[in-house]
Amino acid sequence: MRIYLIGFMGCGKSTLGRKMAELMNLSFIDLDKYIEERYFRTIPLIFEEEGEQGFRQKEQHALQEVSQFENVIIGTGGGTPCFFDNMELMNRTGTTVYISPDTETLANRISHSRTERPLVTGKSREELIDFINQTLEKRNPFYRQSKIILSGQNNLSAKSVIETIKNLEIL
Ligand code: S3P
Repeated sequence: MRIYLIGFMGCGKSTLGRKMAELMNLSFIDLDKYIEERYFRTIPLIFEEEGEQGFRQKEQHALQEVSQFENVIIGTGGGTPCFFDNMELMNRTGTTVYISPDTETLANRISHSRTERPLVTGKSREELIDFINQTLEKRNPFYRQSKIILSGQNNLSAKSVIETIKNLEIL
């Protein structure tokens, strides 16, 4: 059993993933945290020292590693599915679930979060909304390759996501 949670920054991958893992008796891996521990540096520092390109290479490598773990729920980074063949790898090795709340909800969660995210640092509310909409347009073709798409629901519960996955697997 391997589940990948996919979606934009602030969509709730980590919060949902942790709860789902608890309820399903699986381990939860946050890919960003895995990268930080694996490379002994924070995400902002990797961006600063190696640029986005350097970060994406590490992210791909980390994904290849965690895609071999068993009985896990993996919370990916917002950009993970959109680089290299990452989306194909995830679809081949597990159940991909796209969590897609509306832009307002994403913006609220990003601006209230304590996590430092280099791609949105220093943006005003308006700039953030524009960035989310523009980036989603580019990323949606990747995100939408997920096996399960949960869009337009802003407050998904871990239980309901689990039910959806279970129903799909029976069909
Ligand atoms: C990114 C999202 C972040 C992190 C990095 C880049 C992105 O993860 O991987 O800052 O490109 O959307 P979260 O989605 O967990 O915030």
